[in-house]
Amino acid sequence: CGIVGYIGQRNAQDVLISGLAKLEYRGYDSAGVAVCTDNGIQVRKKAGKLANLSTELEGTPLTGTLGIGHTRWATHGLPNDTNAHPHATEDGRLVIIHNGIIENYLQLKEALMSRGHTFLSETDSEVLAHLIEEKYAQLSGNLYEAVRQALGDVRGAYGIVVTHVDHREIVAARTVSPLVMGVGEGEMFLASDVPALLAYTRNMVFLHDGDMVVLNDDGYRVTDLQGNAVQRQVERIDWDAEAAEKGGYDTYMLKEIYEQPVALTNTLIGRLHDETGEVNLDINLNPASFKRISIIACGTAYYAGLVGEYLIEQLARVPVEVDVASEYRYRSPLVSEDTLAIVVSQSGETIDTLEALREAKKFGAKTLGVINAKGSSMTRELDDTLYIHAGPEIGVASTKAYTSMVSAFMLLALWLGRARGTLGEDLGRELLHATRELPRLVEEALAPERVEKIKQIAEKYSGARDYLFLGRGVNAPTAFEGALKLKEISYIHAEAYAAGEMKHGPIALIDEHLPVVVVATESFLLEKTISNVQEVRARSGKVIAILSDGDTENARHADDVIYVPHAHEMVSPIVNAVAMQLLAYHTATALGKDVDKPRNLAKSVTVE
Ligand code: G6P
Repeated sequence: CGIVGYIGQRNAQDVLISGLAKLEYRGYDSAGVAVCTDNGIQVRKKAGKLANLSTELEGTPLTGTLGIGHTRWATHGLPNDTNAHPHATEDGRLVIIHNGIIENYLQLKEALMSRGHTFLSETDSEVLAHLIEEKYAQLSGNLYEAVRQALGDVRGAYGIVVTHVDHREIVAARTVSPLVMGVGEGEMFLASDVPALLAYTRNMVFLHDGDMVVLNDDGYRVTDLQGNAVQRQVERIDWDAEAAEKGGYDTYMLKEIYEQPVALTNTLIGRLHDETGEVNLDINLNPASFKRISIIACGTAYYAGLVGEYLIEQLARVPVEVDVASEYRYRSPLVSEDTLAIVVSQSGETIDTLEALREAKKFGAKTLGVINAKGSSMTRELDDTLYIHAGPEIGVASTKAYTSMVSAFMLLALWLGRARGTLGEDLGRELLHATRELPRLVEEALAPERVEKIKQIAEKYSGARDYLFLGRGVNAPTAFEGALKLKEISYIHAEAYAAGEMKHGPIALIDEHLPVVVVATESFLLEKTISNVQEVRARSGKVIAILSDGDTENARHADDVIYVPHAHEMVSPIVNAVAMQLLAYHTATALGKDVDKPRNLAKSVTVE
């Protein structure tokens, strides 16, 4: 979703629309603005593209110099006019824009209703509007304090922007959703991303998680959620438009690698419930209505499917098979009404996957998609879609979509395991917590000193002609994905094998010139993997081991070690994938390759 806010002397409507247009690459399905006019706050919102809203505003413009605007990429609730933001209170005096999910909104709503509030929509955002309105009345009109106290009652993740007819100010706060503030001369701006503001100012303040801000004609004030003043530096941004879309990173791929903690948060948010241990996926699928599962995908999505197979079979005890879509279509698969076909796709447009989906449907399979792109072709033909909410992925080599897909499979496996009674209470809770930890673990895996170490290793071996990747169990696909990433962007030939299979063939390739990346993080199979490491060493191969933090014991067997944060084995593929992505990335850049546009590859392949 995209947010823009403005207070100053310009026509607010123009600033909002031009800013929202710059956020278009994030995708959207509805848009809205609220402007403080001489007749109070006026809200206009429209389903569909921003152009629909602009056309309406051209006909009946809003005049005023303070406003907030939003483009929505629907997660929950239909993309219609009513669900679009901003949301106003009943009396129209207060408007809010809210990204994210209020996890305890039902309890809050019941309490508010018992105190006489009536609700127009089913949205959690409206609950927030009422809560702020109530606090505002109690605090006799302190808008900042009302928002701050309301947020104290809320559990979840949010970016919010609020304004009130009686105040020339905008109050905003963020947790997961990004917010940047533009500092002008006698005017202030707010946006979810830099490109929206570049036409107006280059002086920007990046707000941190847990920051609140008040903007008015005199400037701004940043605090934490407890109300303590916080200092945030004004940065001068000299990026051009393209660099701005890359968020200051050299490439989209690197930006997307670093976006993974947020992408994962968005995949998980609102779906895990600690108190009950339940997983809520908002899908209609009857978990008892099938006897087997077919996972179908291409490329990186296929490897996410292989992790999915492992997780679902372990936790839900349903037989799963995984196919590359181009094979599935033509091999007369055994499909019937008791099959659940799960297609996995970032774009939702890959023709092989789409045709495989049609093939499965033809034979009566129930269908579920694990998809990133909202409203894509596949989603229109699927019975149900589990969106991964990773946000737009532009780099051709998939990174954040992969880790979000794998996390979505973890959610699905937990949900199925609970529903089918195959997942014990204790393990269920343990995995729920392990899954919740993922954004933090991935953030830790991206710490500068870890990245630097991987960069050194990548450079050291960048002259290699071939690479071998090994992993076992749930991390065998991590090895496959690691090899694929390296091939795609560095053009170094790489093979990947389940570690135990190495001795049945690829071992013949090993000599002192061959770097072998071994995923050897904590696992009940770790000893066996280490035996494979010894086999590589005995033949003079160079071992690059991916080990859990603190494992100095096994470090002795490796030429180079990449340490990753401790993670439960079942979710470790997500953390380990980050090391693989960075290794491929820094190898490719050491070789001077264009990682965002690797030769011969397309982001989405819509021809057979
Ligand atoms: C192309 C891309 C890959 C991607 C695959 C599947 O080959 O280059 O990075 O994994 O398509 O794409 P999808 O959009 O279906 O996930």
